[in-house]
Parts: sequence; structure tokens; C-alpha cells
Amino acid sequence: MQFFIDTANLDEIKEANDLGILDGVTTNPSLMAKEGITGEENIMNHYISICNIVDGPVSAEVNATDFEGIVKEGTYLATLHKNIVVKVPMVLDGIKAIKYFSKKGIKTNCTLIFSAGQALLAAKAGATYISPFLGRLDDISANGLDLVAQIRTIYDNYAFDTQILAASVRHPMHIIHCAEIGSDVMTGPLKAIKALASHPLTTSGLEQFLADFKKGNQ
Ligand code: E4P
Repeated sequence: MQFFIDTANLDEIKEANDLGILDGVTTNPSLMAKEGITGEENIMNHYISICNIVDGPVSAEVNATDFEGIVKEGTYLATLHKNIVVKVPMVLDGIKAIKYFSKKGIKTNCTLIFSAGQALLAAKAGATYISPFLGRLDDISANGLDLVAQIRTIYDNYAFDTQILAASVRHPMHIIHCAEIGSDVMTGPLKAIKALASHPLTTSGLEQFLADFKKGNQ
């Protein structure tokens, strides 16, 4: 399973990249705003800065919701760097735009997926990735992981090339369950990725080994 980090924070992206386990980055307008990145020029430069840190797919989201607007914005975003993936919202004009981009060889990530029907439509249009938001489904007492599993079955039934990018991941167990289901990619916060390394028995075991080494080498 590929690991993407879901942030626009350059320090966090560098930290994850330095671990050597980072495959890509996802951003969205809210994550950009959280970092105080506003104005078209700054936003475009920020995407380029991210692409200069990570050698992998970087999702950059369009803000238009109509076909012409999505095509115009997405076409420009794709010129910024070879690793840019155009993030398109799950609306009917977005589906049309994904079909357009797929014919042009521009990679897409269909975002805000909350149902299997939406995932099926996006795959039919030729999306490179689809992003089911599992944490947001959990937030409303639905089961985000069940949706990821349902989409996995559907895509496998027809050998769709579209990759499942499990998004809105909130904690390490989300990551582990996504790996069990066979999600192609997960995108989550640095905190959830780093939490995978922690175990109290590793901590206490290491403390004991270090103490015994010290005793034996005094
Ligand atoms: C996906 O690409 C989104 O950026 C993201 O995962 C949304 O996560 P949130 O629900 O924690 O905002």
C-alpha cells in the first residue's frame, strides 16, 4: 500500500519524506488555508515546493465546479510539475472533466467520494485515483472502512485500473484496516503515520536492552 501524507505543511512533508516511506502528497483548499497559503500565485508556488520535496504524485485541487472551469484550472495545474495529479470534485461536471483529462493523459483524483456508486462512476470516467473519505463517514456514524471494502470488490470484479486512495484517515488503525482491505493508497496525517511505529513493549524492551548493555559494559 502506498503512503501519502495529507497536508500542505512543508515541514511535515519533509519529515515524512526523510523517513523514506512517503510515496506522495494530497492537499485540499482547507489544508492550504490552514497553512496560510492564499492567492493563486502563492498556491501554485506551494504546489511546486511540495513537488520539489517528494518524488511522487501530488494532488492539487481545482476550485471550479463546472466542466469548462475544471478543465481550465486542471490543465494549468498539470503544467506546474510532472507529478501533479488534478483533484476533481465528485459532481457530474467533474466526471465529464475526468473523462476529458484521461483522454489527454492527465492524472486525476476524484475527491469527496462517499458512496460506491460515485466510485463506480469515477472509475468509468477513467479517474487515476478516487478518494473515499472514511473518517468523515465515521464522523456521521457510517462505516468508512466498509465503503473502502465495497469499492475494492467492485473494482476487482471488473479489473478497473482506478486506484483506491483511502482519505480522511484519522488514526493508525484506519491505516492497518485499509492495508487489510487492499486499498491501493492511504493518505493521512503525519501523526497517524508515526503512530504505526509505537508499541509499549518495543519501548520497554529497548529500555531493558540498553540498561543491560550499560551494566555489562561499565
Ligand atoms: C483527501 O484528500 C482530503 O484532503 C482529506 O483526506 C480530508 O480529510 P479530513 O476529513 O480529515 O479533512
